[in-house]
Amino acid sequence: MTFPAVRLRRLRRSEGMRALVRETSVSVDDLICPVFVQESGEQSSVGSMPGMERLPLSGLAAEIERISALGIRAVMLFGIPENKDDEGSAASQRDGIVQKAIPAVRDACKDMVIMADACLCHYTTSGHCGLVRDGIVDNDSSLAALSRIAVSLAGAGADVISPSAMMDGQVAAIRSALDSAGHSGVSTMPHSAKHSSAFYAPFRDAADCAPKFGDRRTYQTPYTGSREPIREVAADIEEGADIVMIKPALAYLDLIAETRRRFDVPVAAYSVSGEYALVKAASMQGWMREEDMVREILHSIKRAGADMIVTYFAKLAAGMIQNEG
Ligand code: PBG
Ligand code: ZN
Repeated sequence: MTFPAVRLRRLRRSEGMRALVRETSVSVDDLICPVFVQESGEQSSVGSMPGMERLPLSGLAAEIERISALGIRAVMLFGIPENKDDEGSAASQRDGIVQKAIPAVRDACKDMVIMADACLCHYTTSGHCGLVRDGIVDNDSSLAALSRIAVSLAGAGADVISPSAMMDGQVAAIRSALDSAGHSGVSTMPHSAKHSSAFYAPFRDAADCAPKFGDRRTYQTPYTGSREPIREVAADIEEGADIVMIKPALAYLDLIAETRRRFDVPVAAYSVSGEYALVKAASMQGWMREEDMVREILHSIKRAGADMIVTYFAKLAAGMIQNEG
């Protein structure tokens, strides 16, 4: 009679054994908390992202204090401007929404790592991430605009500029503009492999940045392959990116793993609005348990190889980690 000599259950006998052999952990240091800021008015909830709020500037300090009290060290700021125009000019104004939010965050928590999204879609009437010329999203004029935005955000005090426009050459353009403007200490964390995804829909509600015509497939990566996203990552590293990002996270774990395997740079994963909405919807129905899903998803993203995770569950997860002590 042969009994199994290999008994993996021996490693699972007790919480202590399981803890000793655990391969990944999620720390509050890994979390980046997105924050939506608007000029004024009441804080307003986002229908498709239950629990997420758009905050007026006046409510920002209190929120940053809550985030920081949970031990979270980094936030990612998204602005909702009052006015849009064809050139997205409000994105690089000295008194733009994010330009005002950054010092407010700094005042509320001086050590917070302030990451600022750099894109045009929230600010352009077209809702596209680049400037439209003759009906198409024009790459090279967009680079100049993105560079102005980056310099302006760095001037306001951002630590990390996170371009999400997927224009070719955006990292090089931004890097050189930052350096020329005396911001060589400011990092870039591009959305390197940002896929054209259905999972951004709730974010577009939150930030009012849906394209008014066409879609984003002429600039975002298709989800049908793995060579093209890896080339995007390689190009961004070549252009000087400090941290590269894969986005979304859950349906793209293979690409997080491949990026981790091939490159020696920090890798961020962006668990996007649609991933948040899926978990929220199922838990609100009582079908699955929110905290258990969040724990499992965050571990899977870490296991795939991400060093840090942008997640709308940052506060929930930080609280869970705090309670688990
Ligand atoms: C726009 C932008 C998007 C997201 C971040 N920046 C949406 C889009 O490309 O349409 C998605 C984030 C999310 O869904 O959480 N540059
Ligand atoms: Zn955009």
